[in-house]
Amino acid sequence: MVTRHRWLKEIPNKSSKSLYVPETIEALLSEGRSFPPPESFSIQANVSDGSIYEEAERDYVSFWEKWAERLDWHTKWDQALQWDPPYAKWFVGGKLNACFNCVDRHTDGDLSEKVAIISEGEPGDVRTFTYSEVKLEVARLANALKLLGVKKGDIVCIYMPMVAELAFAMLACTRIGAAHTVVFGGFSADALRERIADASAVCVITADGGWRRGKVVELKKTVDDAIAGATTVRNVLTLRRIGDSTAFNAGTWVVGRDHWWHELVTKESSDCPCEVMDSEDLLFTLYTSGSTGKPKGIVHTTGGYLTGTSATFHCIFDHKPSDIYWCTADCGWITGHSYVVYGPMANGATVLMYEGSPDTPDKDRFWKIVEKHKVTILYTAPTAIRTFMKWGEQFPGNCDLSSLRLLGTVGEPINPEAWVWYWKHIGNEKCPIVDTWWQTETGQILISPLPGLTRCKPGSATHPFPGIKAELFSEDGHLLEGAKGGYLVLTRPWPAMLRGLYNDHDRYVETYWSRFPGVYFTGDGAKRDDDGFLWLLGRVDDVMNVAGHRISTMEVESALVDHPAVAEAAVIGRSHEVKGQAISAFVLLRSGFEGDHLVGEIREHVASVIGPIARPDDLFVCADLPKTRSGKIMRRLLRDIAEGRALGDTTTLADSAVVAGLRQQYEHLES
Ligand code: PRX
Repeated sequence: MVTRHRWLKEIPNKSSKSLYVPETIEALLSEGRSFPPPESFSIQANVSDGSIYEEAERDYVSFWEKWAERLDWHTKWDQALQWDPPYAKWFVGGKLNACFNCVDRHTDGDLSEKVAIISEGEPGDVRTFTYSEVKLEVARLANALKLLGVKKGDIVCIYMPMVAELAFAMLACTRIGAAHTVVFGGFSADALRERIADASAVCVITADGGWRRGKVVELKKTVDDAIAGATTVRNVLTLRRIGDSTAFNAGTWVVGRDHWWHELVTKESSDCPCEVMDSEDLLFTLYTSGSTGKPKGIVHTTGGYLTGTSATFHCIFDHKPSDIYWCTADCGWITGHSYVVYGPMANGATVLMYEGSPDTPDKDRFWKIVEKHKVTILYTAPTAIRTFMKWGEQFPGNCDLSSLRLLGTVGEPINPEAWVWYWKHIGNEKCPIVDTWWQTETGQILISPLPGLTRCKPGSATHPFPGIKAELFSEDGHLLEGAKGGYLVLTRPWPAMLRGLYNDHDRYVETYWSRFPGVYFTGDGAKRDDDGFLWLLGRVDDVMNVAGHRISTMEVESALVDHPAVAEAAVIGRSHEVKGQAISAFVLLRSGFEGDHLVGEIREHVASVIGPIARPDDLFVCADLPKTRSGKIMRRLLRDIAEGRALGDTTTLADSAVVAGLRQQYEHLES
């Protein structure tokens, strides 16, 4: 097994920002390895004819209309696309309900008794729900939400473990025309409070706790902290996941505000018609990190989102009625929205949800799950694959993975070694791998192989999905053709694209549409090779990608300076063999503060302000930070120091002695 510690290498770029290229990709390009789709797969694939690309290119709007027609519409649209940059409206005038499309139409058809959700808890409890059982649960919950005063247009915050009820909660909101904002259960009370406030959420759906690595994550207590004081939240509905009210303390119980799921929901009628929604009505907001400290509420609407996610699920995951599909993402992220709930369920898929960690009780947990449930399609993240590589192939090797027929990855660039390991040790050299590039903002996969058609090169997400126009721009906004590296932009609207940032038009324009006026800038760098394959190179802004999670350097910096001992802080993402990037923090202490204990304390402070995913991997107390003469911290140099590289251009440094001193200190710390 080979994993390079440093598989990102900086390539010189005339621009002020640097593009990073995976070193191994360079090696691979010269080596030219490629993997055609296995013939046995191609002959049965949902998409096996390359003319789909030409068809979509001829008229991309009609192409998407055909996919929209696979959905069940209450009223058909008058106009497929209204494009008024930077806002698109899809299927204008059309009416539908997303929950109806994901649940009711299957129960009205012949999927009523098909298993919709297999929910496996970390302690090993397994529950299955057919589509008709999901309908029952969702309709009751929807009625309970109405009883709590939730109305069409309201926003409900969901803060739950990865159990079936999380999907029910999303669908129940959707059923009554309320939007949801799901917050990942690993976020802290402060992060939850900020999201609840920004969305003006009226209700929170949570659980007493969830299981993670054999321990209880106390979700309800965190909700209590998040809504203490002034809040828009009027009601909290709590699922009893861990214990009964005596065995497990579910925080402070406020009469009138707090309700147990099992007391309220089970009493409700299962008769709850789906609200007829406009195609452009809000389906959900989801918060993601930007390059400032404040998270952005990404807005997704109904008809276009469901069209984009259901079409890509069908084509890219080659979904067949007999599949058992497992996406390991949490519903707190966009992958869980688009490819655990909406895309798969709109296709009537059987979806597996797993609550816990991959190493509980042992490092073979994922493979035991695949074996037990005969999973056929597995979608996970490169960081997980690199972790499995590190643990060793004996863990998957001792399990029967022969049910698998297709593998997928998402969230960050996959290094070719990890791709090949996945292909060999998980897919047994017979499963195509779809490396899917997309974002919270794009809602649906935009760049990916089609598994029955595309020849793959390990590490390349290959080509834009039919109908998608993904191009490369130079620093000065020129279109780059042929084998070039540049900024990845999207020059044509697609159905599941974001409809802006919640209550923040200016930031929407500034973040995505001003770098190259009139064109959507992804924030990613990419490279096109001689064969026209796209290689994603990671973020070119101040956003880190840590184990597939998007975290802004500013967010961590503001959590650091929030600690009383910290005067100033600078944060960078340094390359990391498993997580893709790790968080390195450089801090200056206020006078009067000193002591080694502060390092651990400050790291924990960040974890408590944002959540454990943002805890700096290393925290370095320094005497000074490298700054330009105008006072800007030169993060590029900090990255050079943390990654042990030769220092780049230092001519704009105000005081060149600072970096030399820093490097000495850093090396001392490493040794
Ligand atoms: O940098 C890209 C990276 O993840 C970013 C989007 O993060 P987020 O909104 O959290 O969504 C993650 C799940 C869709 C992108 O800007 N990214 C995502 N997928 C890939 C990727 N980078 C390379 N290859 C991918 N397949």
